[in-house]
Amino acid sequence: MGFLYEKLAKPALFLLDPETAHDAAVLAARAGGALKLPAWAARLACAGPQRTVKVAGLDFPNPVGLAAGFDKDCECYPFLGELGFGFLELGTVTLRPQPGNPKPRLFRLPEKAALLNRMGFNNRGAFAAAERLRRLGRGRVPLGINIGKNADCPLDQARENYLEALKVLYPYGDYFAVNISSPNTKQLRELHRPEYLEPLLDALLGFAASQPSKKPVFVKLAPDLEPEEIKDCARLIAGRGAGLIVSNTTVGREGLDRRWEHEPGGLSGAPLMEKARAALGAALDGAAGAVPVIASGGVMTPEEAAWRLEAGAALVQVYTGLVYGGPFFVRNILKHLARKESADA
Ligand SMILES: Cc1cc2nc3c(=O)[nH]c(=O)nc-3n(C[C@H](O)[C@H](O)[C@H](O)COP(=O)(O)O)c2cc1C
Repeated sequence: MGFLYEKLAKPALFLLDPETAHDAAVLAARAGGALKLPAWAARLACAGPQRTVKVAGLDFPNPVGLAAGFDKDCECYPFLGELGFGFLELGTVTLRPQPGNPKPRLFRLPEKAALLNRMGFNNRGAFAAAERLRRLGRGRVPLGINIGKNADCPLDQARENYLEALKVLYPYGDYFAVNISSPNTKQLRELHRPEYLEPLLDALLGFAASQPSKKPVFVKLAPDLEPEEIKDCARLIAGRGAGLIVSNTTVGREGLDRRWEHEPGGLSGAPLMEKARAALGAALDGAAGAVPVIASGGVMTPEEAAWRLEAGAALVQVYTGLVYGGPFFVRNILKHLARKESADA
């Protein structure tokens, strides 16, 4: 089956421009989710050995999740939940709809097993997402909803912008991810600074605490800060009781052809691995075991997923690995984790 993806589906998808291929995949997943047979077939083909993990009070059937950015509009997650994932992170959703950056804004670097994107939070906004989440219902696995700031919202109004989005989406997520780390929204990464981060977190966590069901909040960090800065940031976030997702894409271009130096955007996949590992280490140091840390960035092999979990991540997320590895990527990771666990026992 993996052979079919490698030899047929992937070459066909890779003939398309990357964003068209992504849109086609979302469309297919929407159709697949609406029909019982494809969903059932996908479940049968893609399920891997399960290993329930409890993180932030939630039960995850396995520790491998889909990172944010694939289902930005919360429209195809029921089918994605059949691909073996232990959880799905939807979004980034912003309060108001916005078109994102001009196209082209997504690029493949197949020789590096990487993607470069400057999508810019293209999405139909929190109210439309909430309506679809209400209609499609809960998926098979825990859902995280990743929220971001509208591009036209100044930094000093970011707190209200995030808070309103959280309020609209709160009934539908099992956890929430606060995205302060996309490189594609001007000044967004300024929100790592304590003078912005503290009031932002106080507002979001205060709202969650005031609700009958207190849901966990995670903050997604950038990998491009100095290790000490990541550590300080993680300490601040953990001190307030929020978890961490480490990390988002990088603005670094180490090891790439010079043509990519002048192409703005965030790099993901294999070239991000070392940076994401280092950022995870610094975040784990800062969090000091007080809150869970989810690993993201450059997880392109089952061995790398195992490495992040052994390093101390509570859960791991993939995106670019799925694009290059195909729908059996998660199952292969889960098989590897199960084999390793029985060998270590
Ligand atoms: C096309 C694309 C769109 C993305 N959009 C988002 C997004 O909307 N919000 C977000 O937090 N991360 C977004 N990401 C970042 C991923 O969630 C992930 O953190 C990053 O790609 C590193 O993981 P990977 O190397 O496994 O892809 C996006 C990544 C890609 C490739």
